[in-house]
This record gives sequence, structure tokens and C-alpha cells, in this order.
Amino acid sequence: MSPQIQNHFGVSDYSLISIEEDELPGFFDSFPYQGINVTIPYKKAVLPYLDDLDPIAYETGSVNCIVVKNGKKIGYNTDAYGFRFMLRKSPVTVYHKVCTIIGTGGVSMPIARILEQENAKEIRFLSHAENTEDGLTEYRNTEILVNASPVGMYPHAGVSPVPFNAFPFLEGVLDVIANPYRTMLIQEAEARKIPCCGGLPMLVAQAKASAELFLQHSISDARMTDILSDVTHEMQNIILIGMPGSGKSTVGQVVAERLGRPFFDSDQEIVKKIGKSIPDIFRTLGEEEFRKAENAVLNELTSRTGIVLATGGGCVTRKENFPLLRQNGFCVYLDTPLEQLSMINRPLSTDRYALLRLFQARNNLYHELAHTVVKRQKSIDETASLVLKEFNRF
Ligand code: S3P
Repeated sequence: MSPQIQNHFGVSDYSLISIEEDELPGFFDSFPYQGINVTIPYKKAVLPYLDDLDPIAYETGSVNCIVVKNGKKIGYNTDAYGFRFMLRKSPVTVYHKVCTIIGTGGVSMPIARILEQENAKEIRFLSHAENTEDGLTEYRNTEILVNASPVGMYPHAGVSPVPFNAFPFLEGVLDVIANPYRTMLIQEAEARKIPCCGGLPMLVAQAKASAELFLQHSISDARMTDILSDVTHEMQNIILIGMPGSGKSTVGQVVAERLGRPFFDSDQEIVKKIGKSIPDIFRTLGEEEFRKAENAVLNELTSRTGIVLATGGGCVTRKENFPLLRQNGFCVYLDTPLEQLSMINRPLSTDRYALLRLFQARNNLYHELAHTVVKRQKSIDETASLVLKEFNRF
């Protein structure tokens, strides 16, 4: 997301480059850039190639921004600024708390520096190699957990860097990962109602401080807050859930059109993948095979950002779909009266009584997953407007 965020801040010519470690010397020899950001895993490895460091980069031994001035490459650290902004935006307070930082890579030292400035009681480091519940007994008294490791980051989302139950006294969780928007660790904290915050505010704030260095002018905090809100919305998928035949696809298409976003229907993707219609899949392969294909399709679609997705009504019957749908998703339960549900081409909607049973089994699950509930209105347009209103309130 960095090119998109930098564009918002006025840095227009910004692209992503991926290099191997043995390419670093050559990369710095022929350095045609005015400035770059450095990300995982090179924040420490770039130090020998720089002519000078700013005080925070020097103190933390970590560089995430390099600017060329008078032919010299100067290393900066804007992660510390980014983390402080994230902390301020979050509902987590670290004052006099026992904090554990997971990960010992480039971003852990700037984080420790800020926790120290914010008067944390104790700051401990945990390498994510020590991550069995038994290996963590000495960290049991942790009150604030900060993930500074890449575990749980796209494209390997769906895993946590530590077993959550090893920390019975948690009062706050911070994860510097911004993609997915809600990592597994954040979702585990949310499920337990522990105050938490993902890494998007930090990503935007470190980008703001970097953009100031690239462009040599200051950018207001108000602008940064606006951009954070824009990027949060741009990134979030709008996911429609609800009973079969409730109008998720028709409403979803209108919502996508109004926002100029791509639209996906998970059932259509399953049909493409298997090469059979939904009734044929149920008849020839059975529901279990259908659910497996549905999970695989959701895994792929929900790792994208900025899409509108209509799901099949039964996706909530598999718990493993919940973290997928939530990771980048704003989930809207489209609540349609039973008598208005379409039953065409829907193998499980055999009669109204079958629909009533499905509703009784699923209504609570839809509520559990949803961030909001939208009642189906008289027209598709009105319903789509309500979905958008809820999304804008988010
Ligand atoms: C199903 C709903 C259907 C489709 C399949 C199973 C369900 O999608 O995924 O027939 O279990 O409710 P719609 O919700 O779009 O009808």
C-alpha cells in the first residue's frame, strides 16, 4: 500500500523494488534514487552503505528511510514516529505496564524507544522462535503485547506469532502489521474484548514522516489523519453476508458500481473453479466438497483489498471462514424477511420450512460475524445506499 499512501502525501514517483540480500552492494553502488524507504528484512542490513545517520536511526540501529543530500546517503528512522502515532490513535495505554515486544528485527528497537518514552514499567523482547505456551511462562505477566515480527503478514496471514493463552493478564495488543488490516493476533484480541490496534496508522504515519524528508516540506497532522481515514476505507473490503436469496449479489453489484470497485461473487468463483453449476456441485460432489471449494475461494478473495464481495449464505457454517472474512472486511449482514428470499437454483432452499430451519441455525452466526446489519429496503438502490451509509460511518 505504500505507493498509494505516498501518492496521497504528494510523492508521485514511488514504486516497489524487491531485491535479494546479495544484491545490496550493487543496489547501493548504482543508486539512481532521491530517496527510498527500506522495509523488512533490511532495516539493519543497509547501515554499512550509508554516509550518515540521523540521531534516532543511530540510537536504534534501524533505518527505514534514506534520502540523498549533496550526493550523500543519509539514513533516517521514521518508524519511531509512526509507532508513537499508532499508540496515540489506539485505545491501548502503556504507562506503567509490562510490555513484551515480539520480534527482534529492525522495527523492535524504535518501538522500544517509544515505549520507554511513554513510561512503560518494563520492556521485554521475545523472539518468535520461543513461541510454545511452555516456553513463554516467564512472559506470563505481560500486560501489553506488541507484535513487531512479520508472522501473520500477507501472504501468510491466518497465523499468530504466539499462543494467545500464554498471556492471561493482557490489557492491550498492538500489531505493526498493516496487511491484513486485522491480523489473527488482532482478531484474537478483539474476540476477547482486549483493546487493540493494527498497523495501518503506523504505516501511514511513518510514510508521512518519510514524505516530509523526500519533499523537504512539512505535512500537517490533520492531513495525515485524513489520509489514514481514506486509506482505511480504500483498503477495506465490503462483504455482504446473509441468507441464501437475500439479494447479496444484486445489492453488492450496485455498491461496487457506485464506489467504482471490483465486484466478486464467491459462488460464481466456485462455479468457475470447479466447472459445474452450484446445484450440480451439490448433486455430484456433495456439500462437503462445496464447502472446501468455498473456503479456498474465500481465502483467495479476502486476501485482496478494496473489493465488494457477495458471499454464499452458508459461509458462516464454517468457523474457519470467519477470520478470512474479517481480515480486510467490513461485514454487512443483509437482513431480508424470510418470505422475500429467492429460492431459485439454491439446493438447500427446498421449501419455506427448510429456509426457516436454515435461518434458525444461522441468524446468530450472521450477527456474530457482522460489523453492521442492513435491513433490505423496497428497492435495491435504497438498500445499497444504506450499505454505503454504514460503510462511511465505519
Ligand atoms: C448456500 C447458499 C448459496 C450457495 C449454495 C449454498 C447456503 O449462495 O452458496 O447454494 O448454504 O446457504 P446464496 O446465498 O447466494 O444463495
